[in-house]
Amino acid sequence: MAHVTRRIGLSLGADICWPICYEEIVNKLDLSVPHKGDTVKVEIERVTIEPFDLRQPCRYDVVVDRLTHWYHTSREWIKKAVLMDDLYVFNNPWSVQSMEKQTTYCAMMHLGMPIPETWLVPPKSYEALPDLGPTLKSYAKLFDLGVVGKSLGYPMFMKPYDGGGWKGVSRIADEAALRARYDESGKLVMHLQKAVEPFDRFVRCIGFGPQTKIIRYDPGAPLHDRYTMAKDFVSAEEASILRDTTLTINAFFGWDFNSCESLSKDGVWYPIDFANPCPDSQVTSLHYHFPWMVMANVRWSLFCAVTKRKMRRTLDWDPFYEIAKTDLPYREKLRAYAKIADARFETARFEEFCATHLANLDEIAWEFFGTQTAKDAVRKKVTALFPAAEVEQFTELFWNRIGAWRSDLKAGAK
Ligand SMILES: Nc1ncnc2c1ncn2[C@@H]1O[C@H](COP(=O)(O)OP(=O)(O)O)[C@@H](O)[C@H]1O
Ligand SMILES: [Mg+2]
Repeated sequence: MAHVTRRIGLSLGADICWPICYEEIVNKLDLSVPHKGDTVKVEIERVTIEPFDLRQPCRYDVVVDRLTHWYHTSREWIKKAVLMDDLYVFNNPWSVQSMEKQTTYCAMMHLGMPIPETWLVPPKSYEALPDLGPTLKSYAKLFDLGVVGKSLGYPMFMKPYDGGGWKGVSRIADEAALRARYDESGKLVMHLQKAVEPFDRFVRCIGFGPQTKIIRYDPGAPLHDRYTMAKDFVSAEEASILRDTTLTINAFFGWDFNSCESLSKDGVWYPIDFANPCPDSQVTSLHYHFPWMVMANVRWSLFCAVTKRKMRRTLDWDPFYEIAKTDLPYREKLRAYAKIADARFETARFEEFCATHLANLDEIAWEFFGTQTAKDAVRKKVTALFPAAEVEQFTELFWNRIGAWRSDLKAGAK
């Protein structure tokens, strides 16, 4: 029986609060897990950015990555380590790099998800490249935006095909506004999408491996109030649809950590934005839900590291397509897709791992989120984002919401 150490690397950017909490909680867990005849310990390190030899080995078993979507040195280091050193990383970096909103809409439409009617239109203007003139003269068909608008109907949303963070998004009420917004859209390649309005509920369902959390979202509220603390706003069947939807998307695209936005109207949940691998993890937006996110990260990363879970380097979409082409009703198909997702995320084995080796996580997290260290971590993040005069007020606000989470956890445990 050997003593072995698994190393988890945190590949971080401007993250401040969650890594502190994550590290503290993992250290307090002080794991010593029997696994296949060995006793496994876990160490956490922050990954540094530096030149690397493509043939150098990798110190890490798992990397929790926050940089791939914009910092290319880290992305390429991660890709090298997955290809050459058997690294497991959240999320599949090739998928993060190439799967835009557009791809995710098309794939999930094919699987039968009720994505609102969506068109893609060529951009209003272009970078002056040498081949541009001949290409457009020969092949770009003059089109009447008004006709596309009529076909979709108003109101609609115009948004970049590869968008994120509400950049370039506008709500369009009529044809005049459509023409005006298109004229202003410049070089962006835009989707036009039928508005789901009026919607009765807006949710974000966060997926972390096989763990999901459905949060009611208020897009009109200030940033710190958008994730609401509402409870009991979906039925059991709705919760099951939202979970199956998120797991299907995440398994299909190789995303361990992603968030899926859906709007409910007339009894249907319409997914509208689900290409968000590595979503917001900050206490300043998640507040009450922040401990859940940290704990979900702790559970999934420890499971992957200790059991040396294999990274799925390629995506393998065929089993989903096989189900899509059957005559089953959509709800049945969705259940079958989610079953593939449960197999790929090893849901049963993960739950058993948590029950056996992380049974004290709730208690440790509950204690930790009452400590001065936790409060200081919140204050650090607030200090980085808010004007000096508001630091105290917002630190208290987020701290009190974490306090509410602690009370709810205790009440639930009784
Ligand atoms: N089809 C739609 N129906 C209703 N609201 C929408 C629709 N598409 C986008 N929105 C609104 O615009 C916001 C931004 O659009 P979204 O697709 O989420 O883009 P991003 O990737 O930039 O977050 C959404 O959170 C929602 O409030
Ligand atoms: Mg969005």
